[in-house]
Amino acid sequence: MLDKSRIPAHVAIIMDGNGRWAKERGMVRVQGHRAGMEALREIVKHSDILGVKYLTVYAFSTENWKRSLEEVSGIFKLLVLYVASELDELNRNNVRVNIIGDWSAVPEDARNSIKKALNTTENNTGLVFNIALNYGGRAEIVRSAKALAEKAAKGELDPAGITEDMFSETLYTGGMPDPDLIIRTGGEYRLSNFLTWQSAYSELVVTRLYWPDFTPQEYEKAIEEFQGRDRRFGGVKC
Ligand code: FPP
Repeated sequence: MLDKSRIPAHVAIIMDGNGRWAKERGMVRVQGHRAGMEALREIVKHSDILGVKYLTVYAFSTENWKRSLEEVSGIFKLLVLYVASELDELNRNNVRVNIIGDWSAVPEDARNSIKKALNTTENNTGLVFNIALNYGGRAEIVRSAKALAEKAAKGELDPAGITEDMFSETLYTGGMPDPDLIIRTGGEYRLSNFLTWQSAYSELVVTRLYWPDFTPQEYEKAIEEFQGRDRRFGGVKC
């Protein structure tokens, strides 16, 4: 049974398996992403219902540019569609949309949708919904290192005084807790350059289900599995 008093504050999800879901049905990959968008819609709503405070989803990695133009532009079109159909409800539910990753490189219509979503929800105080777009964990760490190095070069920062907390603050997720739970659908046991710094002590739950088949009920099962884990953060059990 799910313990409603111990819901993870930050859940991150690697939404894998859209392509295989489509292939099994004789559909094209973009149709799998479309079904994935619909699954995402339900998981965002359910995160809010359960009282998750931060939800981070891997929508497009720095490596995903290697896919066909048709697939890449299809994913960004889905983002436009998602914002057009969901923004009012997200806003009504007090959700704050946030983008992690270098979204300056995404197509213009998607950038416009992102700006609208960010502006509309910027003062909301409920669920923080991070969408990782053109995101890579290593690129994020390099970006932080550069920011700190520039400050040091200007004499504003003593390199010897750099701390882990200071470094964390310069990441896209600055000010947010690290993910307690990372869920990966599609059956593979890797992090694929997702939240490389932030995942140091995250619990991982992998399900063989493809992302479009990941329902709120499966989400609750993943959280139950998390609740059964013994988190020691390198210490010993009390
Ligand atoms: C990974 O599955 C999925 C992606 C790279 C895209 C995820 C995108 C969505 C869920 C829809 C977009 C929604 C928004 C809001 C942007 P895969 O294609 O790697 O699947 P495979 O491993 O079966 O090939």
